[in-house]
Amino acid sequence: MITPQTIEQITSRIDVVDVVGEFVKLKRRGANYLGLCPFHGEKTPSFTVSPTKEIFKCFGCGKSGSAITFLMEHEKYSYVEALRWLANRYGIEVEETEMSDEAKQHAQTADSLYIINGFAQKFFAQQLFETEEGRNIALTYLYERGFNDATLEKFGVGYSPDVRDAFSKAALQNQYNPELLLRTGLVRSYHDELQDNYRGRIIFPIHNNSGKVIGFGARVIGKKDNAPKYINTPENEIYVKSRILYGSYFARHSIDKNDECLLVEGYTDVVSLVQAGIENVVASGGTSLTTDQLRLIKKYTNNLTIIYDGDSAGVKAALRGLDMALEEGLNVRLVLIPDNEDPDSYVKKVGAAEFKKFVADNKKDFILFQLEIMLRDAGNDINKKSEVVNRVADSLSKISKAEDFTKQQEYIKQCAAILKIDEQGLTTLVNKYKRDSIAKLEKNQAFEEQKQEQETVDTSDIFTTSDDAQEKNILRVLLEYGLKNYDEERTIADYILEETASFPFDNNDYEQLFQLYETQYRQGLQPTGKSLLYEANEKNQSLIIGITMSKYELSQLWDERLGHTRKEQFILGRDYSVQDATMSVIYFKLRKIKRMFEQTQSELEQATAFDEQMRLLEVHKYLKAEEVSLTQQLGTVILK
Ligand code: GTP
Ligand code: MN
Repeated sequence: MITPQTIEQITSRIDVVDVVGEFVKLKRRGANYLGLCPFHGEKTPSFTVSPTKEIFKCFGCGKSGSAITFLMEHEKYSYVEALRWLANRYGIEVEETEMSDEAKQHAQTADSLYIINGFAQKFFAQQLFETEEGRNIALTYLYERGFNDATLEKFGVGYSPDVRDAFSKAALQNQYNPELLLRTGLVRSYHDELQDNYRGRIIFPIHNNSGKVIGFGARVIGKKDNAPKYINTPENEIYVKSRILYGSYFARHSIDKNDECLLVEGYTDVVSLVQAGIENVVASGGTSLTTDQLRLIKKYTNNLTIIYDGDSAGVKAALRGLDMALEEGLNVRLVLIPDNEDPDSYVKKVGAAEFKKFVADNKKDFILFQLEIMLRDAGNDINKKSEVVNRVADSLSKISKAEDFTKQQEYIKQCAAILKIDEQGLTTLVNKYKRDSIAKLEKNQAFEEQKQEQETVDTSDIFTTSDDAQEKNILRVLLEYGLKNYDEERTIADYILEETASFPFDNNDYEQLFQLYETQYRQGLQPTGKSLLYEANEKNQSLIIGITMSKYELSQLWDERLGHTRKEQFILGRDYSVQDATMSVIYFKLRKIKRMFEQTQSELEQATAFDEQMRLLEVHKYLKAEEVSLTQQLGTVILK
């Protein structure tokens, strides 16, 4: 956690023009700045930045917000990542609360590794372009392969001279710490001397999404049988293979714009396609995709197109990771490049336009593609065929998100046709797999709950009996789906505003946010968690982020009461917003009534006048009746 002092320091330094200007070309226009909106395509600028108001707003698409929300939206940063970016930019040291020594150490090492890698990248690039050896051997080879200077510079490509310790020497001269140098994998220790690891190789730097160099891929020049084609950075504090997609730093905006991410195997495939003007492309390095990589893609698009060469071993590897892609709700398509070509050689052969057309014409849906391959492998073997049916049903059962439900039915239809089996039968099988995974989920959940319970005992302070949880929950429902219908006449927001009107919030911050929502809602502004995030002040912004992020934690309360129903609804993707809203209101009221109850009770104990006692007893009775009624309502909601 970043300390409030640091956040204060950061937010007081923010210059919205400077931040937005990093990504958008801005021109001064009176008191404001104007540019082309990065969030929607436009030819005449309607994107305005106001330094005095510290906000940006696009009059074309309506997007608006603060420098922080700009970074969150444009760079897909989380709130914390955006803060870190700003801290880095303004040279503010980020203080963390409760950071363990180990975590501190880790962060320090990571920082040093970034610095060394940055130095190394510059060193290698200089060797490539400015030394005779680099130009004669490496640059010539890269030119022969069709890469031009602009592309090589963009990707920061370099060359490590074929000398024992050219880089080691330079690094030591610049006072870099030998132990850290070893951790980068750039050097190794030999008889107490440092030696270069990537001698005589072309160096492809690998960037993270903020453009920092986290590692390298080093390729031999030409063909060498006795050496591995590529050597990569070993895993360290910043190079975590399972999270790396080569090229993503350069591709992310194009992926966003095209709403599609192309995935290839190799570094050179990425570089070639980008040079040809196809920029929404990343590489996995030929291994199967990890969940982290898929999530990285999902930040920008739901459409993943895998482009591999036809007989590559990589195809099988890539396919292995793809059930996860379905769980993540990605639409995965596959294109195989023909005739022993790979994307790099193919785009050079046919050109960008033809390449794009080929991809568009030959995209195959991943599930159907997988099915065809498996069927071909199974031949006439009945057992193998039945295995295929089960595998497909298992894959299909992973499509579980609400919006994908029709997609799943469509798939079942198509797969049943290809398999020549009964559609209803396949549906039953898919549902069976779905139930199995629910059972599994429940098991995990039970475990999680147990853990949670232990934690609550440790941390809960029995002397504070605040209404925070219930109030927060009301806000969560409003922000999450206040605009949805509650019944035929009312939205969920109408319902909540009506029902909670006579109960004030205890927590001032929540009260303020609630009022902000109410004001906007009454003005017909259709507020949501996201829209408010742009407009709210700093405090409300972090509240909103906290509330929407604690969604799961709060939902656990419901799980206890709803038992299996909610989980199944979650899995089957049904909408339980009305139920959630009703329950949230009931719990909120119950809580408030309980508080009034306690209040009356203590007043009653102290009251001496008979009239006063009678009045309090009346109140007491009324509250009791309310409580009973609410508890009954709760019962019917749960059983519904
Ligand atoms: P070119 O052959 O120069 O076009 O390179 P490429 O990047 O297209 O290589 P290739 O298609 O043979 O391999 C695809 C990817 O797999 C590479 O970009 C590397 O990430 C990875 N790879 C290939 N060979 C090796 C190797 O020997 N070692 C390691 N660690 N990775 C490799
Ligand atoms: Mn290649």
